[in-house]
Order: sequence, then structure tokens, then C-alpha cells
Amino acid sequence: MGNLIITIDGPAASGKSTAAHLLAERLSASFLDTGAMYRAVTLAAIRAGVNMNNEEKLLGVLDNLEFQFATQKRKMTVCINGVDVTEQIRQPEVTAKAWYIASSPKLRNRLVQMQRQFAAGKKRTITEGRDQGTVAFPDANIKFYLTADANERARRRQAELRSKGGTESLEKIQKAIDDRDKSDESRSVGPLRPASDAIVVDTTNLSIKEVVEKLLCYVKEKCLKKS
Ligand code: DC
Repeated sequence: MGNLIITIDGPAASGKSTAAHLLAERLSASFLDTGAMYRAVTLAAIRAGVNMNNEEKLLGVLDNLEFQFATQKRKMTVCINGVDVTEQIRQPEVTAKAWYIASSPKLRNRLVQMQRQFAAGKKRTITEGRDQGTVAFPDANIKFYLTADANERARRRQAELRSKGGTESLEKIQKAIDDRDKSDESRSVGPLRPASDAIVVDTTNLSIKEVVEKLLCYVKEKCLKKS
């Protein structure tokens, strides 16, 4: 078999990032968190003081800086001009403004090209995001779409934030997730939706271990079977 590409798409807090990390570990695959790419450009644009509605200026940010994405021990590290910004791209301001980048056709196009380049030289890649199975890798070997009901996703996000000292109410988190869902699903380019040939996995009542085992079963059945 040539390069193996597995895509995992789904809404915020559906468990796709953790599942993708663990699956990559089990399959000795490279891992690409494409949300981190959108976040990195957002952070760079905020720092450059660029008008977030000006697509050409945003493209300039992407062109004039060097972005590096690398998988390191269960984590994707992100550098801008050689400086590690892995933690900074998770700041609430970046989360709130990433939709400017996500809804720009030109920027999406460029980031999709970078995603394909990332996978090109690798034997096995697990890539997660919103449009990986639909736009970036329409010929992926296997495509997953992870969902979970909105309340459960809010509860998961709250637990994650609390583990880092956050105190946001469940209602506030729920509203932020609903807003992101709407924005992800309604944009005209690369909207969040399952590819027609994606395997949809509802993770609402599954532990992360169960999710990974389930995905692994599909991968073994579909891609790793000896003929
Ligand atoms: O998954 P995340 O929260 O790190 O994603 C950050 C932002 O990037 C979010 O607004 C959705 C967007 N995104 C996207 O539009 N397409 C992707 N393939 C990945 C993320």
C-alpha cells in the first residue's frame, strides 16, 4: 500500500483531536491538527495588527512568515519564524477570531495545499479538522466523522477547561460551542459536514478508549487487511 491517509472531521469538542492523537500513536502515523494551522495564522495576524476582514493582508501574513508544524510526542508543535507558539494559539482571543481565517476562500486554499504537502512525504498520516475528508483529502483511505450531542460536548469542554483552572459556566461554554457549530456549518468554503463516504461515529456515550478501539477496528478492516 502507498501512503495511508486517515481523515477525522467533526465539530468542536467531539473528541476528534484526542482520538486522532491516540490513533496516530497506535498506528505509528504522523498527526496533523489542521485547526492549529488556522489558529497559527490567526495569532500571527493579531500580532501584526492586520484588519481581519482584509483577505489580501491576511494572505501577506501567511506569505511573509515561516510556519512550521511538527508532531512531537502526542502533541503537534507550531512555530512561527522559529518561535514555539504551541501554547499561545490556544488563547481565547485566537479561538474567537479564527473564523476570519476559516471563512476566507484564499486562505483555506493555501492551508489545504500546506496540509497536502505535510502528508506527501509521510507513510501514514492522520489528519483532523472540519474539511479533511471533503476538501483536503477526498481520496483518503478512510474517513471518519465524529459527533457527540451538544450538551455532552459542552460538558467535555468544561472538564478540559477546569483541569487548566478555568471557571466558565456550562451555559457560556454551550453558547460558544453552538456559535462555532453554526459558523463552521454555514460557511461557503470548506463547511463542516461529513463526506458522503465518511464513517460517522457518535461518541456521546463512548469513552475515548472505546472511540479509539472502534476507529482502529475500521482501519484494520478497511486498510490494513492482508490480501
Ligand atoms: O479545531 P480547532 O478548534 O482548533 O479549530 C480552530 C478554528 O479553525 C475553528 O474556527 C475551526 C477552523 N478550522 C477549519 O475551518 N477547518 C479545519 N480543517 C480546521 C479548523
